[in-house]
Parts: sequence; structure tokens; C-alpha cells
Amino acid sequence: MRPAIIFGTRPEIIKLSPVIRAFLNKGIQPMLIHTGQHYDYEMSQVFLEELELPEIDYHLEVGSGTQAEQTGFAMIKIEKVLINEKPDVSIVQGDTNTVLAGALASVKLLIPVAHVEAGLRSHDRTMPEEINRILADHASEVLFAPTLEAKENLEREGIRRNVYVVGNTIVDAVLQNSEIAEKKSKILSELNLSPKEYILVTAHRKENVDNRDRLTKLVDILTSLPLTTVYPVHPRAEKKLKEFGLWKRLEKAEHIILTKPLGYLDFLKLEKNAKIIMTDSGGIQEEAIILGIPCLTLRYNTERPETVKAGGNILVGVEEELALMYVRKLLEDEKFYQKMASARNPFGDGKAGERIVNILLALWEEGKLKVPSSNFIS
Ligand code: UD1
Ligand code: UDP
Repeated sequence: MRPAIIFGTRPEIIKLSPVIRAFLNKGIQPMLIHTGQHYDYEMSQVFLEELELPEIDYHLEVGSGTQAEQTGFAMIKIEKVLINEKPDVSIVQGDTNTVLAGALASVKLLIPVAHVEAGLRSHDRTMPEEINRILADHASEVLFAPTLEAKENLEREGIRRNVYVVGNTIVDAVLQNSEIAEKKSKILSELNLSPKEYILVTAHRKENVDNRDRLTKLVDILTSLPLTTVYPVHPRAEKKLKEFGLWKRLEKAEHIILTKPLGYLDFLKLEKNAKIIMTDSGGIQEEAIILGIPCLTLRYNTERPETVKAGGNILVGVEEELALMYVRKLLEDEKFYQKMASARNPFGDGKAGERIVNILLALWEEGKLKVPSSNFIS
């Protein structure tokens, strides 16, 4: 089997690394297609290096743009590669514009699409990611749902064939890199931090940072936090914080440490040792519950409701009073803290990558990995 793996952003590289490793363990070298949606060293190359991934076969250098520009350019460039290479399956992961472009370009060439992390729904169609998830799932031939809830979301939309609940590959990534991070990363001493004495924050979602009111409210929260706060800033967020004149407020706050986006080993180490995580990231909501760190999510909905149901994650939006109330409760009420910290990880056992590869190989060997045609005469 000749699989193509199509990706373009930070979380896709991290979450596909276990799938790539699982293919390599079977002696299969997948074709790696990087759209270049993320292109700064610290948003892309650092992960390729740290996760020791093989050479990228195609760098498409799509870069930034409007939703349609980015998706459209990616589709055009992906299609050219696929026409030349004719892979047997295209594998995409998650909900970015790269995923939608990869899925659409592939299925229209009758190359079956395997969607990793299928079935997530926030039920908020104002998010570009929600549109990407829905359309990618409907273009896919094989759907790897991380949880039963995700499978049920697919069922509700009539997608029942070739749906497999395999866990989320983020667990694999965390388990594969946690010890390495512990040994290699010097980030705590570099930032002069003590374990469990800081809050780790990330925020980059379009709905939070592109909106002046929302971003101002977010900055109000961060500047009021009662503990040292580390914020590795995503380039989208940095651009908007500067554009809206909010960057200086963060810089001036003595308890806030702003950094560039960090590599995976440094970031994992910061997560593991944080007292609390506050984020609007999807992957970080997952990592928080995997690592047993209470998470306050800076959003009004989540496509990872399993984390909330399990008790490890609370949605606080950008509501200052609510967010600060929970931060104080976590700092003062040990029982409450332990309850959140001991929430059960709903994302599986860290063998999702292996399962995905085994299932794809089995489908391939049985001749079932193809876009079906009805082929009947009425
Ligand atoms: C994208 C995904 C989002 C995901 C995030 C992961 C979509 C619709 N969104 O959002 O779901 O959570 O990636 O981090 O696909 N930029 C740089 N350097 C880079 C990359 C981006 O400076 O290497 C800046 C550019 O100004 C760009 C902006 O960030 O316009 C946004 O980048 P883009 O890839 O469009 O979306 P993300 O916010 O990164
Ligand atoms: N991450 C990282 N460095 C950072 C911030 C995040 O390595 O400075 C990792 C994080 O551990 C997680 C992934 O990036 O695995 C999440 O990506 P992001 O928040 O950009 O996207 P999302 O998951 O929201 O799509």
C-alpha cells in the first residue's frame, strides 16, 4: 500500500507523528505532503525535527491567506501531487483548512480519504474548523473516531460505514514524548519557573483573537491572574494583540511571561508541571486531561465535551468573573483541585496510531479501500 499523509499545521504534525511511526514500523514509507499552512520554524520545522520525522516529500508552500485562498491554493497544489503520485489512500488529521483541501482534492480523484480524529463537533458553524470537520468527514471513506461520542456524531449525520473508534493519537504522542521532554527540556530553569507554581496559557482561536472585544476580555483575565502565568504566543494572536494595542498590557504585567511558540518537548514539560492550564486550543484540552492538569477552556463550546463530562475541563469563555472564580477555587480548594486533576482520560491508551495503520492495511488487503461506485442499471 502507498499511503499519502497530508498535513500543514503544528497540531497535525504532532498528532500524525504516531501514524507515521506506525507505518515505518511496518516497513512502509508513507509519502509526506506538507501544505505549508504553518511555515515559521517554531510552528513547523521544530516539530519535524523533535519528532524525528522522515524527510518531507512535497513542500507545497501554500502559506497564509483568507479561508478560500488558503483552502483553494492547497487544493490546487495537492491535486497536482496526487495526479502524479497516485497514492492508494490519503490520510488527513483534524479540522484545518489543509484537511479540507486534502480531503476534497483526494476524493475527487477517487483516492479514498482516511480521516483521523473524525466525528468531532462543536455544533458552532461560525468556526471555520466546524465546517472543515463536517465536510472532511463526509468526503472520507474511512473514519477514525477518537471516542464513542465522536462515532455517535457521525451516526447522527448518516455516516456509518468504515467508522472505527481508535482513541486519539495525541495520547500516543504524549506517551512517546513525555519522558524525552522530562530529560531534554530545560524550559523550567530557562524561564525561572518552579513546578506547580504557574498557570500555562495559550489562546489563538480566530473567534477569540480576531475579535477586539473578546481579545480585550481575554487580556483582562490574564492580567488579573493571581499566579505567575506563562503564555507562548501563537503568531495569529501576536499579530492581533499588537494590532488592537493590547500587547503592551501583557508585557507590562509582572506576573506574565510571554514567549514565542515553543517546541513540543518544552511545551509538554510546561504542561506537565503547570498548576492549571487555560487554553482555547483543541489539542491542549486533550493533553491537559491526559496529563492530569485541571483545564479551564477559554471558549463557550468545545468539540471535546468528553473532557468536560469526565470532570477535567471547565468552559469559562472569556468571562473574567467566572474564570477567576475557578482559578481561585483551584488554588484554594485542594479537594476540588484533586477532583479535576484525577479526571479519567477519555482518549484511549496510546495505541491509536498502530490501530489506524492495522485497519488501513487490513482494508487494503481485503480490497475494500476504495471510493465505492453504485454501478447499477435501473
Ligand atoms: C490553524 C487552524 C486552527 C488550528 C491552528 C493550529 C484553520 C482554519 N485553522 O489556525 O484550527 O487550531 O491552525 O495552530 O485551518 N502565521 C504566521 N506563521 C505561521 C503560521 C501562521 O505568522 O507559520 C500567522 C499569519 O498571520 C496567518 C495567521 O497566523 O495569517 C493564521 O494562520 P492560519 O494557518 O491561517 O490559521 P491558524 O490561526 O494558525
Ligand atoms: N504546542 C506546542 N507549542 C506551543 C503551543 C502548543 O508544541 O507553544 C502543541 C501542544 O502541545 C498541542 C498542539 O501544539 O499538541 C496544539 O496545537 P494548537 O493549539 O496550535 O492547535 P489546536 O489543537 O487548537 O488545533
